[in-house]
Amino acid sequence: MEDAATAQQSADSSMDRVQNIVRTKNVTKVYRMGDEEVYALNGVTLGIKQGEYISIMGPSGSGKSTLFNMVGGLDKPTEGSVYIDEVDVAQLDAYELAWLRCRKIGYIFQSFNLIPVMTALENVTLPMTFAGLTTDEARDKGCELLELVGLGERVLHKPFQLSGGQQQRVAIARAMANDPAILLADEPTGNLDLSTGREIIELVREMNENSGVTIISATHDMKMLSVSDRIIWIRDGQIAKIERREDLDISVGSIDGEETGGVSSEQVKHTEESLSGEEKTDKKE
Ligand SMILES: Nc1ncnc2c1ncn2[C@@H]1O[C@H](COP(=O)(O)OP(=O)(O)OP(=O)(O)O)[C@@H](O)[C@H]1O
Ligand SMILES: [Mg+2]
Repeated sequence: MEDAATAQQSADSSMDRVQNIVRTKNVTKVYRMGDEEVYALNGVTLGIKQGEYISIMGPSGSGKSTLFNMVGGLDKPTEGSVYIDEVDVAQLDAYELAWLRCRKIGYIFQSFNLIPVMTALENVTLPMTFAGLTTDEARDKGCELLELVGLGERVLHKPFQLSGGQQQRVAIARAMANDPAILLADEPTGNLDLSTGREIIELVREMNENSGVTIISATHDMKMLSVSDRIIWIRDGQIAKIERREDLDISVGSIDGEETGGVSSEQVKHTEESLSGEEKTDKKE
């Protein structure tokens, strides 16, 4: 029989679990390159609540995309577990995994990844067709989504007839096609200029506020700090620190709206230095 303290502990942790839409436990990913082992992730444990806007920040090669792939069910950890709504992704069979990727999660990539021969509307309706909507239902919903992302006048354009920012808007509409609970973005502003990047960040935030979709975005883009509820800084495959937006906002320095989206540039500089400073002293794998 368990004692009161143990019972309380398990109750507390089950409460925590109820609130987490994404949870990772000691996630480790090792890539083997000949004799060499690369620890792309090395023991990442975190919980993300429904409706949060999370930015995963860190230097190039720190493991952001690897974490994106693990959380999105696109790759499997070498060790540890990923839970979506408290279901261990590793336990899903191929059909359930396909369902998760199609219905539960929307994906946005740096290079948009639209299908070049399809129109904006066809790109957006494709996942709906996979999910079983009729052609008419998909067309109506696709037009609505394209309207929502500001492309109501561009539904019949193909990707090459759209600007980068417009292509990313189509990709966001496509990611939202099946009303996902989670929107995963890997460097969504990486190929965009400053002001287009800001528009895309704003649009993703609107999606988050209006539909309650949980945002998890791997990024270098400091503009994303000001819209994020929490920032998870990773370095060498490990969580270096987790900050809440309020904690960033309290440090008042010169406000650099252009680069940090309203977060104190002093704070960003401090955080970047502390991360890269540690990086210099460590030998990279
Ligand atoms: N398929 C692979 N095989 C071997 N090593 C890999 C593979 N994919 C990633 N890595 C290594 O894992 C580490 C983490 O890579 P990852 O792509 O996750 O970094 P990142 O933080 O997304 O970087 P960036 O900001 O440049 O996109 C890097 O050292 C990378 O070289
Ligand atoms: Mg990456």
